[in-house]
Amino acid sequence: MNSDEIRSSFLSFFETKGHKVLPSASLIPDDPQLLFTVAGMVPFKPIFWGKVEPIYRRIATCQKCLRTNDIENVGRTPRHHTFFEMLGNFSFGDYFKKEAILWAWEYVTQVLKLEEEKLWVTVYKDDDEAYGIWRDLVGVPEKKIIRMGKDTNFWGPAGPTGPCGPCSEIHYDLGIVEDCPEGVECTPANSDKRFLEIWNLVFTEFYQDEKGQLHPLPRKNIDTGAGLERIAAVVQGVSSNFETDLFKPIIRREEELFGVKYGESEEKNVSLRVIADHARAVTFLIADGVFPSNEERGYVLRRILRRAVRHGVLLGASKPFLYEICDMVIERMGKVYPEIEKKRNLIRDVTRAEEERFFKTILQGLEMLNEILEQSKEIIDGESLFRLYDTYGFPPDIVVDVAKERGLKVDLEGFERLMEQQRERSRISRSDVEYARAVRDYEELAKTQKISFVGYETLTHESTVLMLRKDTSVDSVSAGEKVEVVVKETPFYAERGGQVSDVGWMKWEDGEAFVEYVFIPIEGVITHIVRVEKGTLKLGQNVRLIVDEERRKSTARNHTATHLLHAALKRLLGDHVRQFGSLVAPERLRFDFTHYEALSKDQLMKIEDLVNQVIFEALPVIVEEKSYKEAVEEGAIALFGEKYGNVVRVVKVPNFSEELCGGTHVSNTGNIGLFKIIFETAVSSGVRRIEAVTGFNALKYVRKIESTLQTAAELLGSSTDEIADRVKNLIERNQQLEKEIEQLKMKTLTMYIKQLPFERLGNVNFKMLKLENVDSSTLRNLSDVAIAGQERSIVALFAVQEEKVNLIVRVTKDITDKITANELARIGANLLGGGGGGRSDFAQAGGKDPKKIDEVVSQMKQLIMQKI
Ligand code: ALA
Repeated sequence: MNSDEIRSSFLSFFETKGHKVLPSASLIPDDPQLLFTVAGMVPFKPIFWGKVEPIYRRIATCQKCLRTNDIENVGRTPRHHTFFEMLGNFSFGDYFKKEAILWAWEYVTQVLKLEEEKLWVTVYKDDDEAYGIWRDLVGVPEKKIIRMGKDTNFWGPAGPTGPCGPCSEIHYDLGIVEDCPEGVECTPANSDKRFLEIWNLVFTEFYQDEKGQLHPLPRKNIDTGAGLERIAAVVQGVSSNFETDLFKPIIRREEELFGVKYGESEEKNVSLRVIADHARAVTFLIADGVFPSNEERGYVLRRILRRAVRHGVLLGASKPFLYEICDMVIERMGKVYPEIEKKRNLIRDVTRAEEERFFKTILQGLEMLNEILEQSKEIIDGESLFRLYDTYGFPPDIVVDVAKERGLKVDLEGFERLMEQQRERSRISRSDVEYARAVRDYEELAKTQKISFVGYETLTHESTVLMLRKDTSVDSVSAGEKVEVVVKETPFYAERGGQVSDVGWMKWEDGEAFVEYVFIPIEGVITHIVRVEKGTLKLGQNVRLIVDEERRKSTARNHTATHLLHAALKRLLGDHVRQFGSLVAPERLRFDFTHYEALSKDQLMKIEDLVNQVIFEALPVIVEEKSYKEAVEEGAIALFGEKYGNVVRVVKVPNFSEELCGGTHVSNTGNIGLFKIIFETAVSSGVRRIEAVTGFNALKYVRKIESTLQTAAELLGSSTDEIADRVKNLIERNQQLEKEIEQLKMKTLTMYIKQLPFERLGNVNFKMLKLENVDSSTLRNLSDVAIAGQERSIVALFAVQEEKVNLIVRVTKDITDKITANELARIGANLLGGGGGGRSDFAQAGGKDPKKIDEVVSQMKQLIMQKI
């Protein structure tokens, strides 16, 4: 069976058992706890958890997964991978242990046709139920059912908290007896080499909390996982996953590219395997919207890609190659995963650009690394690691890799310490003590008070002061003081989600304060930084809170426009566009997003057009509160990293944009007025930034350009429409004038040089002239004029420009048998400190020391006198 057949046989097998077959979810989970999808169950975590009701109670998938915890071993062993495919069947409160075990056995023995004698199973140590099913219902002999502990037979959670449970594994006996212990029977409990785990059946019945404690889940579930690569290796009877049909074509492509053979040496095998594995990871990561960067997922991608490149270098590469291997991955897997086929160009371009960038540094970095390796005895110290990282961006894990090859240790702790020190140096924060005290006060407050934001509905509101804080909690503050104020209900929007805070006023009987800034110090508390201008503000005071309306409106325009821009970018550039960061202020909006190249003028115009079209259509902006589940099901964009409560706010522009967002928005797109991009630029590799203005600020922007144009028009004495023509004329006229000046200068110099008398040296004529600011072609022309029609004559012309000297020497042909231009020019070159050369009648020299010209002339004269 080839791997495509295995994959589809698995899915159809479970389809006949009543499972809904779903396509693989993205490698990027919709789960703030996880960077990547690390197992087939990850997309279903909220269902297992009981947070979301399942639509189907039985599901089967082949899920794309990525794990990087063991990346150093990838390539060195037959089975470690970063990217892999996991076959799995899931039950959400439907069937449990019995069916999961019976079906797994049926599939393995009837469909894959693995010999029963080679199969062993393990169960969690006190799971008598699973033990009983294997023994009594499946008929596995007792000696082949091994009870094992928590470290191997308890799975999960994926991430710090979540669903987990005891598990039971099926192992395949590879028959390798070398590492079996002597004197006792060889079993999956004591030999990793001989027994290969091919399937893990997890009985997901617990939820693990932050403290590591287990609580029973409302339902008992099944989560199974079988690595396709391993199954393929067993079914195809090969000793390494890399020899299956999943990897062979990729490795063949590498062999062609590098001119090496798999099997030539273990060292080369490692590199070929690393590249094959990493090319798959790179291909699928980029297809799912990850771009190389220095943070989070982008950093993982960068690390994987760079590790592959380094192994390419070991195989002799000196220019980008990985993008071609990725092409092969797409060829091999594009039918099963159409997303990589669809993004073929993007994957090529991004990979290649990143490779190019890395090649520039890697060659230098490797040199330094080699020096370090030579000097290191047993361990590479943290200082060297840090230096490599800091100067060349050389990732420490590459060093770890190389060190491993040479049997050296690496002081990663020392490296981390230096990194931490660097981070410390760049950190600015209020002192830790002060901060802790504030947090404690706010936590106390949040325990007894429910503080709310009422600013979606209103911009002015009456409320009561619940807390006043300066360095500590205080009872009152008087005019001139600055204080942190918490009120029961506030219309002020606190800075979050990229939107800046509102500003405004707080008023009370005979008192007034200005609200400068509003923030959320801990979840559940909203703090206003307030400057008291008049009167005394007391705890328990009733105050009227008034938000600066103009500013809020401008901010709202920019926030809604940001959503429109996000949607327009996705439509026009592609699905790989992901929000990377954003700032929504009253004056402007800034939006950072993943994209691999600069946008063209034409693209920017199309984006502007599309956003403005939605504005001009004056569509309603609909805000709905929904359960998180409903929102995700409806396809609202859920941004990674933001935390959502059970109820989320969905901001929608019908048929155009839908996002989960807590910000403030206009009620109709028409309120935005006009959307104008002011610039587009790079933030880091793979991340672009657009800044834009809306509403009155767009008008202001247009006016500013208009006024610049008017000033220019006035200076030119034209209308604004004619500016370009006028400037063009001016430039042409200027060039014309420069030419005329040049000609005049030439004419004057020609006349001058003609009438300058020759000096008589013995029986030859000698003429020299020092000129300033004359280019070399003019100098040559002048030398023509000076020598024309002469006999027995020598001309030496010097041109001085800043600190540079040019020299031309001419000698009439009738005396070149006695003295040559060449030898005279050489005097110049020597004394002026430059080079020179030429023929016997014409030679040039240059130099940097104008003060030496007189000396040059006098030596020339001496030589002439001697030779003639
Ligand atoms: N979630 C289980 C695993 O990854 C099946 O092994």
